[in-house]
Amino acid sequence: HKRVAILISGGGSNMVSLVDSMTGNHPARPCLVLSNDPQASGLVKAADRGIPTAAVDHRPFAGDRAAFEAELLKPLEQAQPDIVCLAGFMRVLTGDFVSRFQGRMLNIHPSLLPKYKGLNTHARAIEAGDAEHGCSVHEVTAELDDGPILGQARLAIEAGDTAASLAARVLVFEHKLYPAVLRRYASGDRNPVLLS
Ligand code: GAR
Repeated sequence: HKRVAILISGGGSNMVSLVDSMTGNHPARPCLVLSNDPQASGLVKAADRGIPTAAVDHRPFAGDRAAFEAELLKPLEQAQPDIVCLAGFMRVLTGDFVSRFQGRMLNIHPSLLPKYKGLNTHARAIEAGDAEHGCSVHEVTAELDDGPILGQARLAIEAGDTAASLAARVLVFEHKLYPAVLRRYASGDRNPVLLS
């Protein structure tokens, strides 16, 4: 089995969908759930599922990204992951950190990339009057929310949608898309997964 480490910052619903998918004939298994917030409720969900967990609080590093990443790297390297999945991980990683996992780090982002990199994606899609919105899984490169797209799920924006209603609908698609991409990726297939 390929070893998968998952990085989270909060509730970890995407992490749960990934962990729960890695059973049976799946080519991968979870080896670590790591958070930058020791209070992240996702850590409890991972521990309940028997996955090793670790946390490195970013706050004491107050902007010293290199020092934070040096600490983050310790549990991650110990876990010896073949694949690293960012799943609601809300810290920007430096090129130096990313380069250590080049070609084996994935991220899920709540927009149809290359549209709406960064934050507040749902509000921005509504504000722009877009007919469609969705989520993307991509390979992580040094550029934020960039890198080869490995899967997308799209849905229609309805009249009356708010950022919150749209976020909730996109999240349901995220929970389908990320496990589908990980399964394909872990078996060595880089062709994009397209859902709608
Ligand atoms: C998800 O919607 C994910 O796409 C988004 O945060 C949420 C995390 O939810 N990620 C980003 O915005 C990355 N910049 P979760 O903790 O329940 O998986």
